[in-house]
Amino acid sequence: MTAPLLRVDALRAGYGQLEVLDRVSLEVLPGEIVSVVGANGAGKTTLLLSIAGHLSPFGGTVQLDGHDITGLQAHEAAARGLVLVPEGGRLFPFMTVLENLELGAYHRAARARMAQTMEEVFDIFPILAERRGQLAGRLSGGERQMCAVGRALMALPKLLMLDEPSLGLAPIMVDRLFDQVHTLVKSKGLSVLLVEQNVGNALRLCDHGCVLDHGELAKRGTGAALLSDPDVQRFYMGL
Ligand SMILES: Nc1ncnc2c1ncn2[C@@H]1O[C@H](COP(=O)(O)OP(=O)(O)OP(=O)(O)O)[C@@H](O)[C@H]1O
Ligand SMILES: [Mg+2]
Repeated sequence: MTAPLLRVDALRAGYGQLEVLDRVSLEVLPGEIVSVVGANGAGKTTLLLSIAGHLSPFGGTVQLDGHDITGLQAHEAAARGLVLVPEGGRLFPFMTVLENLELGAYHRAARARMAQTMEEVFDIFPILAERRGQLAGRLSGGERQMCAVGRALMALPKLLMLDEPSLGLAPIMVDRLFDQVHTLVKSKGLSVLLVEQNVGNALRLCDHGCVLDHGELAKRGTGAALLSDPDVQRFYMGL
C-alpha cells in the first residue's frame, strides 16, 4: 500500500473554549485530490488552518511524508511542502501579480528555483504572464484565484490545500480553475486537499472525498460514490 503524503489523525481544534473539530481523521495519498465538502460553518476552514499551522490543534496529530508536523508554525510547514491557499486568496492588492508570485518563493529552496517555477506557473496560467505588471487588487475574481494558486506553487508544495477557490466565481471560471488544478496535479504529481461548498464540482474533481458535518467527518468514499449517495444529493446538492 502507498504511504499517505498527509495523515491527519483524531484532530481536534477550535477557538478558545469553542471546540469546532471533533476527532477528524483523513489521508491524502501522493498524486491524489481529496475534497472535503460541507455546509457553512461545518469547520472546513478550521480544518485547513489547523493542518497548516495557522491554528494550534487541541489534540490529535498531523503527519506529512511520515513526519509529525503537529503544531509547527505555518511557515515551517510550508517549507516542508504543505502550502495553504486561504479563503479569498489573500493577495497583496497594492502589489503587482509578479511581486505577489515572488513572495510565494520565500524559503531558500523555492527562492533558488524562482525563475524556473515562475515559468511553470505562467505555462499553467498564461493570463498571469499577461497581467504580471498589474496590481493584484485589479484582477478579476478568477484571475485572483489563479494568482493565489500560482503564489502557492512558487513555494514548491507537495501538498496544496485550497480553501473554497470557487467562492464568488462565475460557473465557467470555476470549471476552468478546476480543470487547471486537475492538470496541475496530474502533470506535476502534486497532491491536493480541497475544501468546498460547491459540492458537485468538488466531488467530480476528486479521487476521494469526505463530508464534514458540524465538525465531524460524516461520510467518506470515492468522489463517484459520494456523488451518487442519496443523502449527499439531498442535503448538499439540492437534488
Ligand atoms: N476566529 C474564530 N473565532 C471563533 N469562532 C470561529 C472563528 N472562526 C470560525 N469560528 C466558528 O467555527 C465554526 C466553523 O467555522 P469554519 O470557518 O471552519 O467553517 P467553514 O466550514 O469553513 O464555513 P464556510 O463554508 O462558511 O467557510 C463556526 O461555528 C464559526 O462560527
Ligand atoms: Mg470556510
